[in-house]
Amino acid sequence: MNADRTAEPAAAVLFVCLGNICRSPTAEGVFRVALERAGLAGRVRTDSAGLGDWHVGAPPDRRAIQAARRRGYDLTALRGRQVEPADFTRFGWILGMDDANLRALTALKPPDFEGHLGLLLEFAPQMQMREVPDPYFGGPEGFDRVLDLIEASAAGLVARLQPIVTRD
Ligand code: 4NP
Repeated sequence: MNADRTAEPAAAVLFVCLGNICRSPTAEGVFRVALERAGLAGRVRTDSAGLGDWHVGAPPDRRAIQAARRRGYDLTALRGRQVEPADFTRFGWILGMDDANLRALTALKPPDFEGHLGLLLEFAPQMQMREVPDPYFGGPEGFDRVLDLIEASAAGLVARLQPIVTRD
């Protein structure tokens, strides 16, 4: 493996939601596994962050951890953090879960950001959904729905990034 590539991943993706304890850590955990399965681990930097600061330093919501574990994903090591200005230089792909996230990110975006700022579900058009609904105030089925949407999007995002990060 090329040592330079190991030091600096060819692409960097930041998943963003409101609290960084339900949707975006789930996206981070699912996407990491999708990258590993595609043989692209180490080529894509992956992280998640929240627009609010209520859960900084906290692990994901217990319901998100449990729903993810049932599908084989381990979210327990993740800790919440807030979106910061440096994210727009460290990440070329910044993906919000819903329109409120996207509006807030657009307001924070520096004028010289040249990356892709959009919604995660752009990468799963077959799901015919624009937003990943916030499951925080709902029942456990909401967390399974989040996983369905995120697994589909992660597959689409890996397919989109694969030619970019394997280019010589
Ligand atoms: P998330 O869900 O944005 O998917 O992490 C939420 C978690 C916490 C809150 C809102 C949404 N909250 O208001 O604390």
